[in-house]
Amino acid sequence: MSSQAARLVVLVSGSGTNLQALLDASADEAYGARVVAVGADRHDIEGLARAERAGVPSFVEKLPDHESRDAWDRAIAARIAEYRPDLVVCAGFMKILGQPTLAAFPVLNTHPALLPSFPGAHGVRDALAYGVRITGCTVILADAGVDSGPIVAQEAVPVLDGDDEETLHERIKTVERNLLVETVGRMAREGWTVTGRTVCLGRPSG
Ligand code: GRF
Repeated sequence: MSSQAARLVVLVSGSGTNLQALLDASADEAYGARVVAVGADRHDIEGLARAERAGVPSFVEKLPDHESRDAWDRAIAARIAEYRPDLVVCAGFMKILGQPTLAAFPVLNTHPALLPSFPGAHGVRDALAYGVRITGCTVILADAGVDSGPIVAQEAVPVLDGDDEETLHERIKTVERNLLVETVGRMAREGWTVTGRTVCLGRPSG
């Protein structure tokens, strides 16, 4: 693995299929990024097992183990910082990160809906309940809000007759994994700029 590869710390709360897609992609040196650590806000999740199987170090910071949200914010930022990431990727991480992390590192988040529609923890359920015929997934740069940061990439996914939350989410996740892998790779290899709310991948010309 090239020492030039961008260092990723990936945060998970669940099954970690997006994490697995990043682990698989980074097996190719040409990808330009590698997962140096996996963090979680809970124990006993498949995401942590995936890290272990891949030989990637992991850490857990549970909110209830801290006396306040501020203390948790500082603790998780310190754990992340140990791995000197170039980019932090929230891949199904069900917590909003606080300023100690957001001010120190660029943070990417993936969401299973076309933002700014249907932010929050139930994006798939909310889109289905609203009756949209097209939904999708969005990769954003995280800010202090709920799924409110600048949009980096999006892809549409149709809602099919008879879909329930599970079938729709699975169809979205197939697209989401590819979008996340492609976006992280491009950010690692080409860099990015943010102007207002507009994110541009690649180095500015001239
Ligand atoms: C993804 O759809 C993510 O956007 C959402 O939860 C799902 C996580 O899936 N917040 P996984 O843990 O990567 O399999």
